[in-house]
Amino acid sequence: MTKPDVPSGLSAEEAARLLRQRVEMGGGDLFLDGMTREEALRRVSSARAGRSSDDLAPSAPRTPAPEPGARPTTGATAGRTSDGGTLILPDDYEGLREIALGCTRCGLSGGRTQVVFSDGPPSARLMVVGEAPGANEDASGVPFVGMAGQFLDLLLATVGLSRADSVYIANVLKCRPPGNRDPQPDEIAACSPFLLKQIDLVKPRALLAVGSFSARLLTGRDGVALGKLRGSVHTYHGVPLVVTYHPAALLRNRRWTRLFWDDLQLLRSVIDVV
Ligand code: URA
Repeated sequence: MTKPDVPSGLSAEEAARLLRQRVEMGGGDLFLDGMTREEALRRVSSARAGRSSDDLAPSAPRTPAPEPGARPTTGATAGRTSDGGTLILPDDYEGLREIALGCTRCGLSGGRTQVVFSDGPPSARLMVVGEAPGANEDASGVPFVGMAGQFLDLLLATVGLSRADSVYIANVLKCRPPGNRDPQPDEIAACSPFLLKQIDLVKPRALLAVGSFSARLLTGRDGVALGKLRGSVHTYHGVPLVVTYHPAALLRNRRWTRLFWDDLQLLRSVIDVV
């Protein structure tokens, strides 16, 4: 197969423009057709500001800025603990983050290097919700910094969204499951109150759930296949919610990249009117 004539070292905007052009020209598999996965990721990587195209390592830990005008901890929202007790979470962002960083509510705390709380500004218009940290995220303390995260960043850039200013990212689980296994129901029960409180405090204008764990949690449709949840706009506590495939799944199944693209267009249209 011929490779597209794309110079290496594209800026994020140029890479985004390339993707848009390919869609407009009817590209079915988008970015990945005609390129190996490694090559596509090298290009994504080199499109990230000032980084060498060979460097696919995670970026250095970043700490999100505190919520503007954050108040001292007041103690307010309740979630259910995994043993049925009530978990009181504070109404201020920094207080919530501090509690999450010290959390030992489930067995995953014993194996973690770092709690992965979030990335991007809490003032962001869009909140992306993933599944759980992987090895790169556990090491850096930042969500979605591995290959899947870099691909996600590129795809978001195609609709003008970036974690530099408009995207806040968090996961259903804040600690890495061993060997990247699926989150277990008791872990989701123990950890998800942090995510739900984050949504409450960040107050995004729209939510994007990537992958079935976040999609099922936020739609409340336990056990429903992701393919049945995508393609329409749901709401989570009044916030418009779009559901799509996990970017790691796109790296395994090229056909889903086109569907992800369609979901991003739906998301963009939602963000433009809220
Ligand atoms: N996959 C996720 O769902 N979240 C991350 O932070 C990294 C990979």
